[in-house]
Amino acid sequence: YANEIIIPVVINIIEKYDGQVTQEQIDSQIAILNEDFNNLNSRTVNTPLEFSTSVANFDITFTQSSVKRTISNKKSWGTRDAMKFSSQGGIDATDPSTYLNIWVCEIGRGILGYAQFPGGPEATDGVVIGPNYFGETGGNYGHGRTATHEIGHWLNLRHIWGDGGCSYDDFVTDTPTSDGPNYGCPEETINCGTVDMTMNYMDYVYDDCMYMFTHGQNDRSRSLFTSGGYRYSFVD
Ligand code: ARG
Ligand code: ZN
Ligand code: CA
Repeated sequence: YANEIIIPVVINIIEKYDGQVTQEQIDSQIAILNEDFNNLNSRTVNTPLEFSTSVANFDITFTQSSVKRTISNKKSWGTRDAMKFSSQGGIDATDPSTYLNIWVCEIGRGILGYAQFPGGPEATDGVVIGPNYFGETGGNYGHGRTATHEIGHWLNLRHIWGDGGCSYDDFVTDTPTSDGPNYGCPEETINCGTVDMTMNYMDYVYDDCMYMFTHGQNDRSRSLFTSGGYRYSFVD
């Protein structure tokens, strides 16, 4: 695409003590997003030959607009959006029509992050990431790819297996059909008669083992930013 898209980000941090989520963590997360959405992830060289022509550059730049913090001793926030409301101890969204809101808080139940797809209520638009999975923290899920994956959802991308068996679709033609998530760091994996694109950001593998989006995914996300599209307010 000819135009670069710029997405100002507001980071809403709900933490146990001031500075629990460090500024270095925030900076590293923004840097990782800018790598992944500009096809600058150094691991993309590992893309298998059969998928190498599918690799896309989304050409989306994320800028750190502001960081908001609040302290809470709540153990886990769950997935029902309480962290998005000051009335419930969280932080209210900053204009979701022109800012991507990221909430960083303990979700609980082993959940790394979750997102709202385009078209949902404005007050809850954005993504939520657990503090241990936000930015560079180390470990299998500590290299910032949960945010890449969740922002993929925020950009209307489905899981590559379409959240169902072989007859379920992610509405993207250049991601091979699969019947479920892949985990860990898989070798070549065949499902539904084709090789799975396990290294796609929209699978469930380890952070270091996901390193690509496809042209079809780029087309699907880009259509949000065209006239009449749900995220056109970011570019008009
Ligand atoms: N929504 C998924 C979960 O919470 C995110 C998986 C992200 N995967 C990753 N390697 N960071 O389970
Ligand atoms: Zn997901
Ligand atoms: Ca597909």
